Amino acid sequence: MILLLGGNGYIGQAFVAELERRKHPFISLSRRELDYNRFDLLLDYLKSKRLNFVVNAAGYTGKPNVDACEAAKADTLIGNTLLPQTLALACAAAGIPWGHVSSGCIYSGAKIKTENQVITEKDINKPEVRKMISTAPENILGFTETDAPNFSFRDEPCSFYSGTKALGEEAMAGIGQNYIWRLRIPFDEVDNMRNYLSKLQRYAKVCDNVNSISHRGDYAAACLDLWEKRAPFGIYNVTNPDFITAREVIELMQKILKLNRTFEFWANNEEFYNSAAKTPRSNCVLDVTKLLATGVKIRPVREALEHSLRNWKPETI
Ligand SMILES: NC(=O)c1ccc[n+]([C@@H]2O[C@H](COP(=O)([O-])OP(=O)(O)OC[C@H]3O[C@@H](n4cnc5c(N)ncnc54)[C@H](OP(=O)(O)O)[C@@H]3O)[C@@H](O)[C@H]2O)c1
Repeated sequence: MILLLGGNGYIGQAFVAELERRKHPFISLSRRELDYNRFDLLLDYLKSKRLNFVVNAAGYTGKPNVDACEAAKADTLIGNTLLPQTLALACAAAGIPWGHVSSGCIYSGAKIKTENQVITEKDINKPEVRKMISTAPENILGFTETDAPNFSFRDEPCSFYSGTKALGEEAMAGIGQNYIWRLRIPFDEVDNMRNYLSKLQRYAKVCDNVNSISHRGDYAAACLDLWEKRAPFGIYNVTNPDFITAREVIELMQKILKLNRTFEFWANNEEFYNSAAKTPRSNCVLDVTKLLATGVKIRPVREALEHSLRNWKPETI
């Protein structure tokens, strides 16, 4: 039996769908039924069930976006740092392995291959980096699981949300047996205010950023595959291989959805931050070599995007 926390949430729903598809018996537990932030209650609960795995898809993201976390720091810290630590301690005490939905938003930028070295560039929007993205994309490398987060309280600036996600990873490190599954900018074929493809369609003006991104269903499937394959515990970047610019995603949307609008772009990040955002955003490229080396299959990003757009289900209200 698998226990799922946060099963009512946007990412939790993808785990519900994938567990049902695999006919895995599972319990989806919400805070209304049990205050799983409390170590004593959680440990009693874990011991009372015959569980062989726990999935933590609970956390605090801030709605409609991470700016909201700046005004709800206690909730953000509780959901993203204290909860993973409590779970790590309780699962270790109950002897149950588990997996945690983390985020790639603890990085900024990419690693760049130059003639004789690899350097970290925090700002992928620098003109020379953008030029390299179109002329020599093979020189843009992603952060690996061994790279220290560089968009965190230990390496500022960062958003409060990202800071608590990085601290959450630290807080559970070395306690019991667990996976840290890093998700990044979820999307799929279902129109939803949390879906990257829906967000892009609704923005008045778009930032042409560069990112690794995760198809929501592919992500949940890959995370469960890691457990089913009994891949070594530890951190995994779980994004669809390769990276993409927002401009390219919009071109794909225009081609496939034939949207009846044109898109305007912010001239640069400075203009965006002055006009439309409160806290810094992470834009980054992640390396998924470790995930793929386990034998887990996940579609390249352009294939997952095209499939989502060709099967697009608009909101019907
Ligand atoms: N959505 C994204 O863009 C994104 C990107 C990268 C990573 N993530 C991570 O994915 C996880 C799930 O995010 P989501 O987008 O699915 O969020 P969501 O739709 O808001 O769902 C989160 C769930 O977490 C539970 N929860 C537990 N403690 C909470 C707290 N203090 N405040 C609010 N909810 C709390 C709630 O479940 P109950 O109340 O029913 O128990 C809620 O349904 C988070 O850890 C987030 O950091 C999300």
